[in-house]
Amino acid sequence: MRTQVGIVGAGPAGLFLGHLLHLEGIDSVIVENCTREHVIERVRAGVLEQSTVDLMHQIGVGERLRREGLRHGGIYLCFGGQRRRIDFEDLTGGRSITVYGQNEVIKDLIAARCSTCRPLYFEADDVSISGFDSAEPRIRFRDAGGMREVACDFIAGCDGFHGICRPAIPPACLRMYERIYPFGWLGILAQAAPSSEELVYSLHENGFALFSMRSPAVTRLYLQCSPDEDLAAWTDERIWDELLERLEAADGWRPNRGAVLQKGVTGMRSFVAEPMRHGSLFLAGDAAHIVPPTGAKGLNLAVADVHRLSRALARHYRSGDTDLLDRYSDACLRRVWRAQRFSWWMTSMLHRSPDGNEFDFRRQLAELDYVTSSRAAMTSLAENYAGLPFD
Ligand code: APR
Ligand code: PHB
Repeated sequence: MRTQVGIVGAGPAGLFLGHLLHLEGIDSVIVENCTREHVIERVRAGVLEQSTVDLMHQIGVGERLRREGLRHGGIYLCFGGQRRRIDFEDLTGGRSITVYGQNEVIKDLIAARCSTCRPLYFEADDVSISGFDSAEPRIRFRDAGGMREVACDFIAGCDGFHGICRPAIPPACLRMYERIYPFGWLGILAQAAPSSEELVYSLHENGFALFSMRSPAVTRLYLQCSPDEDLAAWTDERIWDELLERLEAADGWRPNRGAVLQKGVTGMRSFVAEPMRHGSLFLAGDAAHIVPPTGAKGLNLAVADVHRLSRALARHYRSGDTDLLDRYSDACLRRVWRAQRFSWWMTSMLHRSPDGNEFDFRRQLAELDYVTSSRAAMTSLAENYAGLPFD
């Protein structure tokens, strides 16, 4: 097979990139090692920044999002039993966020890809890449038909944190920055109507909790736990008791209880690999960087990367000009580090660290008080959370 851009990974980064390139008339092959069902059903985050929503509409994959996405004009921060609202629309000149599960985004993008008839391989085994230092980049993989080889001009490494693209770069050519947090999130999906129209982030003596949602009938909730928490120790009853304890506000607000549809534990890390390019291999999304989920930035950063990459590739194919490709890594990393700073800050403000003491807890409460009462501080949170325009 021969194509212009070989894409490894059919997560948000790979699928958005494939569609953006298609709209520029650029051919691609997407190679994914999991099954289509797994890629769709994996439970992931679900907050889209304004720019991600705008892009989905612009590229023609926003029809269901327009109908089913839940537009939110702000969030609540809850501490000391009080819920205080931060009004993004007012503070940012009308920017908002939209709650729409990542798996819904993936479904829409797979449908768009299939309608273009451009290749998308699921269940690819033994995926490897080579030649990105030379003029002959290649992706190899095995499927039911045997070994296949894709010759391409460029490789996009969109294969997430545990993928094969980043480790294929010689270690001496990469610099990595990492922070692993001493806590994780226990998350549940519950068959319960959301009792608030907007997200509630809470800091409680027992730790962090988050109230989110997926639809008018399904609530998504998270609890701070230890990074290696044993799920077996958490009956549904115990999860609900702890959620209610951490989220219930003095005005009587609390989440509605309901059947637990799914539960899981995730660790939290901040990670950046620099540069995001090696020869004709370009890293995008979680392959190059991870943020802790407290700022809801992971999916949006992946989309910002591939938006930039698609424009750089389009310029190259139209005019032979490599300037945007040459600037890809630096330009992405500027946004990435701003999102890293914001995600780290939200995480530190809202979690109780095992290394912290009562002084730290009181300091965090004072910070939340400031962040929800100073217009300058609220504006800073709002513009980072709602997200900067893509360019
Ligand atoms: N070969 C092919 N595909 C692979 C390989 C491999 N060796 N390894 C991983 N993949 C696939 C994964 O199965 C997954 O479908 O690459 C895809 C990477 O997708 P994500 O992990 O979702 O990463 P990305 O597309 O960058 O999106 C980032 O998604 O995971 C969330 O929290 C994350 O919101 C962030 C966003
Ligand atoms: C979610 O709905 O899954 C969600 C919302 C906000 C976050 C993280 C996850 O910060």
